Amino acid sequence: MTESPDADFVTVAKVGEIASGSGGTFKVGERLVAVFNNDGEYLAIDDLCPHMGASLGAGYIDEGVVACPWHAWRFKICDGTWCDNPRVKIDSFEVRVQGEEIQVRTTPRPKPDRDEN
Ligand code: FES
Repeated sequence: MTESPDADFVTVAKVGEIASGSGGTFKVGERLVAVFNNDGEYLAIDDLCPHMGASLGAGYIDEGVVACPWHAWRFKICDGTWCDNPRVKIDSFEVRVQGEEIQVRTTPRPKPDRDEN
């Protein structure tokens, strides 16, 4: 088998296995990633809540925001922004659908430089 430019995407689930409005936790490379179905759009962020380590894949989604199941810290699932302090972001990951497979890139998106002083 030859390496392709797509080698850094891994399949986490098949279309239909993550219900709309919910998420799940999947191993992507060495990371655990929370993948959500937001009205048919798949989005992925780091699964580990930075507060005390709960699994964000088990959180509750409302209007593009996931609330941590333990203490309800909220993060935008499009890019990992912490709603209470938008200067803090957890990692987010590119997601694509190939045929019936939902695939997540193994490396997180680069975070933009912050220069807001
Ligand atoms: S562990 Fe997520 S808010 Fe506390």
